[in-house]
This record gives sequence, C-alpha cells and structure tokens, in this order.
Amino acid sequence: MKKRIAVLPGDGIGPEVTQAAVDVVKATAKRFHHEFEFHYAAIGGAAYDAVGEPLPDQTIEVCAASDAVLLGSVGGPKWDQVAPEVRPEKSLLALRKQFNLYANLRPVKAHEALQEASPLKPEIVEGTDFVIVRELTGGLYFSEPRKKTEDSAVDTLVYTRKEIERIVETAFQLARSRNGKLTSVDKANVLASSKLWREIVEEMRTGYPDVTVEHMLVDAAAMQLIKEPSSFDVIVTENLFGDILSDEASMITGSLGMLPSASVRDDSFGVYEPIHGSAPDIAGQGKANPAGAILSAAMLLKQSFGLTAEAQAIEDAVERVLKDGYTTADLKGGRVLSTEQWTAKVIEELDSESVSDSICFS
Ligand code: NAD
Ligand code: IPM
Ligand code: MN
Repeated sequence: MKKRIAVLPGDGIGPEVTQAAVDVVKATAKRFHHEFEFHYAAIGGAAYDAVGEPLPDQTIEVCAASDAVLLGSVGGPKWDQVAPEVRPEKSLLALRKQFNLYANLRPVKAHEALQEASPLKPEIVEGTDFVIVRELTGGLYFSEPRKKTEDSAVDTLVYTRKEIERIVETAFQLARSRNGKLTSVDKANVLASSKLWREIVEEMRTGYPDVTVEHMLVDAAAMQLIKEPSSFDVIVTENLFGDILSDEASMITGSLGMLPSASVRDDSFGVYEPIHGSAPDIAGQGKANPAGAILSAAMLLKQSFGLTAEAQAIEDAVERVLKDGYTTADLKGGRVLSTEQWTAKVIEELDSESVSDSICFS
C-alpha cells in the first residue's frame, strides 16, 4: 500500500516522541511491504518562531495533501507571553476545526506488565479497557463570545443538536463493536448544554437496544474512574470534560505518556497524537515515554489505512517490551531506558516477529 503521512513534530518532547513513532511506522512498512511517504511540516511554537504563526497555510496544505497526520505536541513556557491568537495551543484547535475532526478517541487500556506502575492498586487496575470519546470541535474551546478585560472574562459553552448527535452516534457505534456499554458523562444538574446532551442520548438509545446506557455526572465520573475503572467500556463526553478525564485516566496505566489518541471525522482522514503535552520539564533529555506516540501511529494504520494486522503487530511489540520489563523514567519500576533505546526495543520486537513469520512460511 502507498500512502502519504504528514508529520507535525511540534514542541518540547513532541519531536522526540514523533521520531519514535515514525521509526516504528517505517519498520512496520518494511515488514509488511508498504510504501509510506513522510511529509514534515511545522506547527505550534516551532512554526511561530519560524514564520510568526503557529499553523502556517503550508502546514495545512501538507496535511490536506496527506492521507493522515502524525502529531507530537505543542506549547511551552517560551510562548506563554505571546498574543492569545498565535499561542502554540491555538494551532491544535485550529487544525481540529479546519479538518472537522469532531471525534477524539482516547483508549485507556491497562497493560498487565504495568500493574505495579500505577498509583492505583493492581486489583483496581486489572481488566481496565475503555475508550473515552471526546467531542473535539465544540463547547467551551470554540464558542463565542470569548473575551477578557482587566475586570472580567467570558467564555461561552454552546452545543448544537447536530454536534451532540454526531459524537453520540460515534460512541454508540463504538460501544456496539465493543462490550455494549455506554456511559454518557455530563453536568446535567447545572448546565443547559448538558441537559440537551442527556436528552439526545435518551432519544438515540432507542436505535441501539443492544447498548446499555448510563448517565453519570462528571464529578462522580472522576471518582468512579479511580474507584472502579474496569467498569467502563465507552465514555462519551464534551470537549473540556474529556480533556480532563483522559489525563486522569492515564494514570490507571501508570503514566500520561502511555495514552494514544485519534481525532477523526466521517471519512478515513485523521490526526493521531499522544494525549500528553510538550513536557517542557523533560524535553531534550531523552526521557520522554514514546509509547503514546507509537500507539497513536498504530491507531493511524488501523483507522485511516485499514491496516489491522500492522497495527496489531505494533501493539504486540509494545506489550512484549513492557513484559520484558523495559520502561522509561516516568513509569514506576522496570529497567529504565531512554526514548531512543525503548523505541529500538519495540523495533527489535517487530523485526523478530517478521523473522518468525518467514520461518513459518518457508
Ligand atoms: P504535559 O502533558 O506536557 O506534562 C505533564 C507532566 O507529565 C510533566 O511532568 C511531564 O514531564 C509528564 N509527561 C507528559 N508526557 C510525557 C511523556 N511522554 N513521557 C514522560 N513524561 C511525560 O502537560 P503540561 O506540563 O501541563 O503542559 C506543557 C505544555 O504542553 C503546555 O504548553 C500545554 O499547553 C501543552 N499541551 C499540549 C498538548 C498537545 O499538544 N496535545 C497537550 C497537553 C498540553
Ligand atoms: C489535549 C490538549 C489540548 C486540549 C490543548 C493543548 C489545547 O490538552 O490535546 O488534550 O485541551 O485539547
Ligand atoms: Mn489535554
């Protein structure tokens, strides 16, 4: 298969983890005989420094001309004082809006080998496997008016029926393909947008009699994620709640560095990125955990290119490296490797699978 992948490394540890993901995709392409072209473009603070804006037109063009996008992370203290409309973080929001990537899928899966790495007890972590479906192009992040003066500030939270319906539909379909349980998380005891959200979920559930639906208030959901994470299957929620709950949920797996994500729409195009930020405190030190980025690349191969076996090969390789006890500094326990060394282990595993394949077939 021939495909074009846009690569947007961004800031901080973004370039380090993105390089890891690209190396793993290259190794996968070699093993499965695919031809992937990688087209690099600037985003975030790196783009702002180069051309004065965090999402240059050229970057949008590179993405538009590609089949999928791999992204690192943006932002950092260096750009804390720049004008709000050219902050690095704006580039992410603009990219999501520009390409109508309304559904952000954030799988949270506890790795058996990392049970001791989580601050939660192993018996609580065990069996955790759910997906947060986060609405990504609406809500507080985008609604107008938004303004700040010295004495007051306003943000606005708008959701339209259409925006809610399409994300809830994505979540129902996903729940149907998994274990048939959907938890809709809102703040319907306070927010009008949440009341509409809950009404729409209630209307739509009749079309999915095979899916069990529960509603949960976001504060209670934050608690339940820690109390019994294995009770969840698919969680659907609005933009800001999904952002916060997914960082919280990452610690079930042992580190924020472990979680991948896919930002998708109705066709096969998508932007794939780890859920973490640019981690300025460890940038440039070879300490970043590349697992979230590598697993995001696996999601890209599966969701945008339909390459299920290839994605599985990457996930299996990651699992084996963890089972062998190799970790990065953010994870508690194990033999700590650098970003590059850990990535090399994943590639070794991919290559050794390919040797055993050829033995099988010869
Ligand atoms: P962060 O996610 O960058 O870091 C939080 C903590 O987790 C830090 O201690 C960091 O060292 C650690 N961490 C994160 N990813 C890691 C990894 N892969 N391996 C090891 N440790 C890891 O969040 P923050 O410090 O609040 O934000 C820093 C900057 O990143 C801010 O400018 C923020 O706006 C931006 N940000 C960007 C994205 C994105 O690009 N998608 C996401 C979140 C935050
Ligand atoms: C994320 C990040 C972004 C978000 C920021 C950097 C705009 O936290 O992708 O989770 O809030 O969506
Ligand atoms: Mn976030």
